Amino acid sequence: TVRKAVIAGNWKMNKTRPEAKALLEELKPMVADVKDVEVVACVPFTNLETALAVTAGTNIKIGAENCHFEKSGAFTGEISADMLAEMGVEYVVLGHSERRQYFAETDETVNKRTKAALEAGLKPIVCVGELLWERECNITEEVIARQIKLDFFGISADDLKKCIIAYEPVWAIGTGKTATADQAEEVCAFIRATLAKLYGADVAETITIQYGGSMNAKNAEELLSKTNVDGGLIGGASLKAADFTTIIKAAV
Ligand code: G3H
Repeated sequence: TVRKAVIAGNWKMNKTRPEAKALLEELKPMVADVKDVEVVACVPFTNLETALAVTAGTNIKIGAENCHFEKSGAFTGEISADMLAEMGVEYVVLGHSERRQYFAETDETVNKRTKAALEAGLKPIVCVGELLWERECNITEEVIARQIKLDFFGISADDLKKCIIAYEPVWAIGTGKTATADQAEEVCAFIRATLAKLYGADVAETITIQYGGSMNAKNAEELLSKTNVDGGLIGGASLKAADFTTIIKAAV
């Protein structure tokens, strides 16, 4: 395949600075020999400086878990893409279902954040995924197509190539319920087909599409063996160095 596997941890609201340092120090030697997989840790804002310092010169890249769409101004509590880029942060998770569910994010704000992140030189990891109810109603493909169209509206092919798309069925996040490898493959292939319609097949072939949702040391290999599953966005299992390493090595 032309696509490099990308395994990204999403720490969510976990780890104080000393805990973050300890986890990354433990992870560093475990993944030092990994070459063909991009290893990313997306950490809380308060851990970014520590994480960047601990991983400097290693093959672990650092990401944030969100950014605002304005460059600066009266947005109390928010962090801009420029602030992240200046620190040396490389990736940013956008449109995570927890942001959509608990913090009123919409496809419109995800689109604006994606554009702001790209403008700042960050690599967005844009999350899409259907609710359980939507899957039961058989509208998974409509939901995903709509999210892809809206979240990437007005974004050029060159910019799209800097993005990663994470397919995270909302019913599989933090629930211990994983999509089967076939379900993950089906939707990831559908995402690629949707991108092909919008940007052409050549561009679509180059985009890394991750699966996320209760991916763990046991199920990673099967999920990652699928043609259109190019990596993973890992929540809970990224908080344990051994489990995260097993997932990374399953992607090699
Ligand atoms: O971003 C990561 C996903 O929300 C998956 O979380 O692996 O804890 O289910 P999880």
